[in-house]
Amino acid sequence: MSWKFVSENGEFILENPDKNSYLYFPLVNEAGMMSSITPNLNGDLKSGQNTFLLLPVSVEDLHNSKSGRNFWLYVNDKYIWSVNGNSPMQLANSYNEKKDKVKLEAGFLWHKITRENNDLGIRAEIINFVPVDEHKVEIMEVTITNISENTLRVSPTAAIPIYGRSADNLRDHRHVTSLLHRIKTTECGVLVKPTLSFDERGHKINNVLYSVLGIEENGEKPVGFFPEVEEYIGEGGSFENPEAIFLNKKPYAKPGEYFEGYEAIGAIKFKDVELKPNESKTYIILMDINEEGTENNILIEKYGSKEKVKKALENNKKYWENKISKPEFKTSDDEFNKWMKWVNIQPILRRLFGNSFLPHHDYGRGGRGWRDLWQDLLALLMMEPDNVRFLLHNNFAGVRIDGSNATIIGSKPGEFIADRNNIARMWMDHGAWPFLTTKLYIDLTGDLKFLLESQTYFKDRLANRCTDFDPNWTIEEGNKLKTNSGELYSGSILEHILIQHLTPFFNVGMHNNIKLEGADWNDGLDMARDKGESVAFTALYGWNLLEFANLLKILKEKENIEEIEIAEEIFMLLDTLNTNIDYNSVDEKNKLLNEYYSKVKSFVSGKKITIKIEDLITDLERKGNWIVSHIRKNEWIKNNEGFEWFNGYYDNHGNRVEGDHPNGVRMTLTGQVFTIMGGIATNEQIEKILDSAKKYLKDEKVGGYRLNTNFHEVKLDLGRLFGFAFGHKENGAMFSHMAVMFSNALYKRGFVEDGFDVINTLYNHVKNFEVSRIYPGIPEYINEKGRGMYHYLTGSASWLLLTVLTEMFGVKGDLGDLVLEPKLLHKQFDCKGIASVKTLFADRTFNIIYSNKNRLNYGKYNISSVSLNGKEIESEISGNKVKIKRSLLESLDKNKIHELIVELE
Ligand code: G1P
Repeated sequence: MSWKFVSENGEFILENPDKNSYLYFPLVNEAGMMSSITPNLNGDLKSGQNTFLLLPVSVEDLHNSKSGRNFWLYVNDKYIWSVNGNSPMQLANSYNEKKDKVKLEAGFLWHKITRENNDLGIRAEIINFVPVDEHKVEIMEVTITNISENTLRVSPTAAIPIYGRSADNLRDHRHVTSLLHRIKTTECGVLVKPTLSFDERGHKINNVLYSVLGIEENGEKPVGFFPEVEEYIGEGGSFENPEAIFLNKKPYAKPGEYFEGYEAIGAIKFKDVELKPNESKTYIILMDINEEGTENNILIEKYGSKEKVKKALENNKKYWENKISKPEFKTSDDEFNKWMKWVNIQPILRRLFGNSFLPHHDYGRGGRGWRDLWQDLLALLMMEPDNVRFLLHNNFAGVRIDGSNATIIGSKPGEFIADRNNIARMWMDHGAWPFLTTKLYIDLTGDLKFLLESQTYFKDRLANRCTDFDPNWTIEEGNKLKTNSGELYSGSILEHILIQHLTPFFNVGMHNNIKLEGADWNDGLDMARDKGESVAFTALYGWNLLEFANLLKILKEKENIEEIEIAEEIFMLLDTLNTNIDYNSVDEKNKLLNEYYSKVKSFVSGKKITIKIEDLITDLERKGNWIVSHIRKNEWIKNNEGFEWFNGYYDNHGNRVEGDHPNGVRMTLTGQVFTIMGGIATNEQIEKILDSAKKYLKDEKVGGYRLNTNFHEVKLDLGRLFGFAFGHKENGAMFSHMAVMFSNALYKRGFVEDGFDVINTLYNHVKNFEVSRIYPGIPEYINEKGRGMYHYLTGSASWLLLTVLTEMFGVKGDLGDLVLEPKLLHKQFDCKGIASVKTLFADRTFNIIYSNKNRLNYGKYNISSVSLNGKEIESEISGNKVKIKRSLLESLDKNKIHELIVELE
């Protein structure tokens, strides 16, 4: 059993999808309607934490809850059949030959289930999608066909339970909040508008209207309704055997009736119909959340016929296919090419769903974290670049003057909110990601001046990298840093990045690596605040410091910038320019940092000083180089079996984490990824790391390299993750995000076969549906049984896209110029020796075709010539790399697709 791609667009089918648990598919639009749907039409539907139309579900509810979308048929006055398979008869037959035949078809972004019962002679086709428009509505189109040889008499009823309130009320006042319900019937459906909303915002007048509307294909209206759950199910009934259906009752409510204080359901009865053999009838169900509270007929006017739904579905397909059309990869593996389309959509899904609104993501209240904000931009830079400068600039407003950042991110760009509970949580890796994203942006655009743009800083009660409180700050002060005289303070983006690297540099633990603080990338390493250290991210900061210095050199050279201004307080952290701290002394470093903290705890002076960019470069290089040699010298370990790698962590007792241990060898993947990516590991060391990782971390059973070995200990002096069973989530699963960054690091360093192997093993695992049990795409992790978990919303999708485009296909920017440096293996070229990618660059679309007629392997081919739209062009070729000037690309028509053919010999 497996899904199969059935079109060039990545559409796929899956037979018997109902024979899988935990499967769900996302439907969404830019207006903010978020839906998840399973093969038995379960899942939920919401526009935010406080506005769920369908009952909020976690993964376990997908098979246990009966509250999903349903549509019942009472056939020939005796048989009861549900299009989602949830009638007792269908459930009883689900393990024998009388089982309904079920098929799933899905594409961007629509979901179709076909369910047939041969004994009854009936087939239902149910299409669900969230149309691309300003409405928060999900459309469900149900088509019933008589596949028997006799005429069938069918009595149809749609049944969509309307939860209509905040997810918080699931366990908090579930009953009391039903008393708020005001239920109304109209000509086409059931409307629920609770009087108040009871949620974290307090008790407020509610304005949100939830409706379920139904209409027949020809515009015929329903015959009546059962709007209250208890009347619909009857005494002793349930959503699986509702009395209204089982006794084929007459609907007790007509349009224009009003009910209050009960759980509601959009139970809509349609006219009985006689279907001749092969005859079909279609019903349209609309599930809508209207936050303005307006009752109107717009939706019925817009979608109330089969033709209109067909058109909306076509628009929907076009819209999403266009969104994900770039980058479009073509390698010899056609399945991989299509699979990548589903990866393409994932960063967009995370932009729309945040980290909270699919069934596995049953935490958070919407929105994204700081890290995700920056990582998701990586992909958007390649797919939706228009707005990125604006977003990037706004995101920097979240940085605090102590180098930490706001963690609650508002819905508007640049909106950062103080944590109401003043939770002092500091993720030590947070300061490192903005630079990576900014660097990618500058490489793609050449927009060096972005570094000089001005931006404010975030301010709240937390101070000293969240280890203290500012006694002078009050809510009235607002969330922006001010000067002593009460004015808003702004500094350049360059200054923001600087501060994000300088404070961690001095914030070291006893082994002189940067402190782990509240955790690093691995959210689960959260119990070593005092003595924990993350060597892994010290490496990333070290690399960044050196890369930042390089970028400043270019800024100096290209933009003739000799001097820059910084807040006077920051000057002391550029110690090379004044005191020259001994970097080997933990005390000196910490002391300097504390002095700095005391200067910026409440305000800054607002005075700026001018420094030579040359001096700044020297300081950053000194710091970066110190980190590189420190890690090389102190953290390279060898165990008793003779394997060698980098230690990534120290625990809260100040003990080194990795290496031999009585419970078994301890190794982490994270400790290796950034030392490789950042050039700290030498090529020889990379070979050794690979040997060790293959020995201790690689496991085909879970699709590749695990995040860590089994520590066989609930290691309370390192983090909660050790409480998770081994092989799950952050405790030793194959965690896609880190695995893909491992691949990226290997590609970067020229270990192309190994980099490819990481992605290929992962891809082969997830496309093996029998084991992974997910639809196409990359999941957050693979669990111990091999199942793909937390599908769709994961930062690994951005990194995979980035890695495939910029490393595997080698399509990169270099200060705005286009660089092509393919790292494709011979097996990735098709039989004609072609591999290609259609992608955006400099606001133009390019089809970049690598032609490797002799199918040479990476390492054996060099670029021999480059032609653009059929003509050889001037370019700087060196070996396997070519640079094409932006000015040339910018002279091209924006509305055409341009063909770049790169000959490899
Ligand atoms: C998730 C979080 C990410 C975090 C990671 C490890 O990964 O979103 O910020 O670093 O867990 O704890 P994701 O789901 O993005 O793959």
